[in-house]
Amino acid sequence: MAQQAVSYESDIRPLFRQKDHDSMLKHIDLWSYDDVRKHQAAILGRLRNGTMPCDGAWPQEQVNLFQRWIGDGSAP
Ligand code: HEM
Repeated sequence: MAQQAVSYESDIRPLFRQKDHDSMLKHIDLWSYDDVRKHQAAILGRLRNGTMPCDGAWPQEQVNLFQRWIGDGSAP
């Protein structure tokens, strides 16, 4: 059976903490589907190289999930 598509609202958005949202708002609104889509490549780059979030890299599974979401190109 095919893996289920990754959803922004239920899988991705909850990974961004209040702190992430507030700290990044000047650059990217991490709680906005459109904004995260628009900046998906830059976000993935930072998540992968571990420079964001500024206070500690995500676990690999979370980075993989974000990458899958980009690949799926799925709706909100
Ligand atoms: C999952 C959470 C986060 C993601 C995906 C993320 C992603 C990014 C990205 C893609 C940029 C580059 C923006 C641009 O070039 O326009 C950036 C910049 C920045 N972020 Fe974050 N961020 C996160 C959390 C945080 C947190 C928690 C802080 C600090 C409390 C922070 C502070 C900054 C600052 C100061 C910059 C501008 C300076 C720089 O480019 O290093 N971010 N972030």
